[in-house]
Amino acid sequence: MAQSPTYVILMGPPASGKGTQAERLQDVLGLSHVASGDLFRYNLKNETELGLKAKVYMDKGDLVPDDVTIAMVLDRLSREDCAKGALLDGFPRTLAQAEALEVALADSGNSINLVLNIQVPTKELISRVTGRRLCRDCGASYHIKFKRPKEEGVCDKCGGELYQRDDDTEATARRRLEVYNAQTKPLINYYSRKGSLANIDGNRPIDEVTDALKVAITAAL
Ligand code: AP5
Ligand code: MG
Ligand code: ZN
Repeated sequence: MAQSPTYVILMGPPASGKGTQAERLQDVLGLSHVASGDLFRYNLKNETELGLKAKVYMDKGDLVPDDVTIAMVLDRLSREDCAKGALLDGFPRTLAQAEALEVALADSGNSINLVLNIQVPTKELISRVTGRRLCRDCGASYHIKFKRPKEEGVCDKCGGELYQRDDDTEATARRRLEVYNAQTKPLINYYSRKGSLANIDGNRPIDEVTDALKVAITAAL
């Protein structure tokens, strides 16, 4: 009998390292990386209606409305490459999103297996946000101090050009943090009550965070 799909959520405030760790964990887990922010940026790059709508919210550091976000992510999860499940990054971010995901998974007899909550102090988050650089072609993430590419401005993986996200200014990062505290933080309790939450200290070098995440994954799955 086919094994039932596995769903793992990477949670944490802006710039806590969700994307960085997901890049490494997707192979360990053998799951597709589904990041709502990346999906919005992909749509924006391709100038779709969805992308242009999302940009208005993203530039301010606000959340894109639930109906649009939920529909986009559930559609992504229904694709062939998510047949074994997914490593979710940046979704769910509101209680309504968490409930919609739960209902959609339950419809096919599935559920969330594990929620990994990466914890990092605010001061550290601001320096991570403002120093981040991303590859225009493959989306890989770098940092001007903490994860430097071999050649400045060039992606190690694909040679693509590195750029700074429009919402990676200090002012927008502070707004994103406010939004996180008001709308996303309550999900920590939500998943803790369900017994699926593991807290991870994200305030240490990237490799050490990866090791801690792997330990939590091995213990839970
Ligand atoms: P999204 O793209 O999800 O942004 P975010 O949550 O703010 O998270 P980030 O991508 O900024 O950070 P990350 O945790 O992935 O960190 P990273 O690994 O890059 O969302 C953007 C916007 O889209 C939202 O504001 C909203 O408008 C919209 N949106 C997205 N999802 C939505 C949803 N579900 N509902 C509604 N709206 C939604 O690391 C950051 C930097 O730090 C990098 O430079 C990295 O190299 C460095 N770094 C990582 N780990 C370490 C470490 N351990 N030590 C030192 N440096 C590190
Ligand atoms: Mg990210
Ligand atoms: Zn690249």
